[in-house]
Amino acid sequence: MARIIGGIGTTHVPAIGNAIAKGLQRDPYWKPFFDGFGRARKWLAQVRPDVVVVFYNDHGLNFFLDKMPTFAVGAADEYRHADEGWGLPVSRPYPGDAALSWHLIESLVADEFDVTMCQEMLVDHAFTIPLALLWPEPNMAALAGEASGQRGDSKVRTVPISINTVQHPLPSPARCFKLGQAIGRAITTFETDLKVLILGTGGLSHQLDGARAGFINKDFDLMCMDKLVDDPEALARYSSLQIVEAAGSQGVELLNWIAMRGALTGAVTKVHGNYHIPISNTASALLVLENHDAAQTTYRKAG
Ligand code: DHB
Ligand code: FE
Repeated sequence: MARIIGGIGTTHVPAIGNAIAKGLQRDPYWKPFFDGFGRARKWLAQVRPDVVVVFYNDHGLNFFLDKMPTFAVGAADEYRHADEGWGLPVSRPYPGDAALSWHLIESLVADEFDVTMCQEMLVDHAFTIPLALLWPEPNMAALAGEASGQRGDSKVRTVPISINTVQHPLPSPARCFKLGQAIGRAITTFETDLKVLILGTGGLSHQLDGARAGFINKDFDLMCMDKLVDDPEALARYSSLQIVEAAGSQGVELLNWIAMRGALTGAVTKVHGNYHIPISNTASALLVLENHDAAQTTYRKAG
């Protein structure tokens, strides 16, 4: 059976991609941000997921304001990146896991989540940047003085799940939490031995335009990072507009983190966290959570 080994929340600011391309990981501006990822990669090297389910928001590459699904699930063998206009290098295609995708879609629809299913899906920086941070290409691992992460060697497969955080009305935090829970249930009924990591990208507080451009709310962000570990229902009690008010109009990307946490089916412990202000216009954050299912604990004891 598939099992969920844990969840990670990370920021997805496009400038990170340019910093990686230019090898700026040790530059004083970037070091406190990139240094946070060493511990996450060490944990990933121990738990070695086969598949990553990525909750993220598309910013106009695959979906635009004219047609915006609230929830869309990729069901392809491969996902391509494309030029988004940020000057980022275009990544190699990402392997999918269509069998797992269709199982998730069947299970979600049976659970009354009537998602958009995408047999073709371009993935944007909200998907590519977190993967580049967690599974760096060997040149970046060398710069960080570590053993290679994996994109080069482990061929981790992916299932992209896009949540609309762009075109109002947005789904509520409670709905996103329940979507995550439905994904968690679906994964644990997939009859293939797989280790699955859940990723939620974006945030934390930021606002890119309008009267509050540059807005950051450290107190709110740190509260969210605490609640995501032990009391995620507290975040599910906010409305999306309350999150916009507290965290900025793009800070509502927190919805992706809330969905990620909903998918963790067992007891959750914090492996690592990092918070650094600012990266570009954004309060950058990283949270690594391990998921301990009852069955998994038994398995570990027996093993
Ligand atoms: C920035 C942050 C984002 O989440 C994004 O999608 C684009 C830009 C920024 O801070 O520059
Ligand atoms: Fe974003």
